[in-house]
Amino acid sequence: MNIIFARDYDELSRLAAAKVADTMRSKPGAVLGLPTGSTPLGMYRELISMYKEGKLSFKDVTTFNLDEYEGIPKEDENSYYRFMRDNFFSHIDIDKGRTNIPDGMSCDVEEECRDYERRIEKASGIDLMVLGIGNNGHIGFNEPASYYAGITHRVKLHQNTIEANARFFGSVEKVPKYAVTMGIKSIMHCRSIMILASGKAKAGAIKKALEGSITPELPASVLQLHRDLTVIVDEEAGSLLK
Ligand code: PGA
Repeated sequence: MNIIFARDYDELSRLAAAKVADTMRSKPGAVLGLPTGSTPLGMYRELISMYKEGKLSFKDVTTFNLDEYEGIPKEDENSYYRFMRDNFFSHIDIDKGRTNIPDGMSCDVEEECRDYERRIEKASGIDLMVLGIGNNGHIGFNEPASYYAGITHRVKLHQNTIEANARFFGSVEKVPKYAVTMGIKSIMHCRSIMILASGKAKAGAIKKALEGSITPELPASVLQLHRDLTVIVDEEAGSLLK
């Protein structure tokens, strides 16, 4: 495990973008796993700047997003489809046909999950998975549980996650109760993983994830078992680490 302590959020974002760019340069046609949320926004901004400065092209890149809410139409401002389009994809030269996000409106969610796994397999797997972490230690929407859920699946969101995400919806009641997420097995199969954490609210989850026991009650702790894990924390998020 490689832990990098960034001074602040801006440095974290630059380091994260540099790692994505390195992956893309070392493997033309790289397959990236991508998160939504506040944490990766700076990384996306950095990658967009690199593209605009002519330093990076996304033409041959394939992406798989981690998760999507269930029952939120693509065009809704809170869908992860919109998040990715507005914050990243519409600003770069990526082929939209190579971007994959679980379809939270599918009338056959089980089949959508199986199909998502087939698409990842067809792309020969994910080279670099970028993750955020929830205050409760979730990765994607893999919530604390008594067991690890394997592949892409439908999940009931934890109250803690619903409350954390209410800031985007205006109220707790409006946050969807279900989502589709890549599972722990799908994440652990990625060839390398980079997890990002910024701010005091993440310090406890990061400490437990990296220094605590490995348990599905703290889903991110399973990452300790991955053979190519990079952790980038800013000063606050890393403040409790030994
Ligand atoms: P955040 O979310 O980046 O908005 O803090 C991370 C997560 O919940 O996985």
